[in-house]
Amino acid sequence: MKNIENREDVALLVHSFYAKIRTDTEIGPFFNDVIKDWDEHLEKLTNFWEMNLFGGRNYSGNPIEAHIEVDRNSGGVISTHEFGIWLNYWFATIDELFEGENADTLKRRARKMSTMLFLNMFNSRR
Ligand code: HEM
Repeated sequence: MKNIENREDVALLVHSFYAKIRTDTEIGPFFNDVIKDWDEHLEKLTNFWEMNLFGGRNYSGNPIEAHIEVDRNSGGVISTHEFGIWLNYWFATIDELFEGENADTLKRRARKMSTMLFLNMFNSRR
């Protein structure tokens, strides 16, 4: 078990995490319906989490808008249940591969972000 120390570590985490997500029967379809180029998505999410942890400017996107769009296109059915599944995989993947302060930080930040993303998604419905 090691700390999350660099981009390579983040890439391993992101790849391992989405390998689980893609094959989940409940939330996999949300991703597989939208994401046509998985290499590009994994690169983008590696940039996102690398920037989140180590700084820099290599991610430039809008996660709130992206999730409002995903929710709208799937008929507004994404709930805290789906976010719970997402978070469980995130925690499980981190625990399988890493330990230490950055591992804890990525768990905490994802938990906070899930609340923020879900609230924005929910509010956009009305
Ligand atoms: C803590 C929870 C989550 C985090 C931190 C997160 C983070 C992200 C980020 C950063 C992106 C890239 C946005 C962009 O720049 O285009 C993304 C895309 C996406 N997310 Fe999430 N996500 C979360 C939960 C979920 C859940 C629960 C679902 C579905 C049930 C979901 C479905 C998607 C999909 C389909 C995309 C691709 C959007 C596109 O390419 O158009 N996410 N997510």
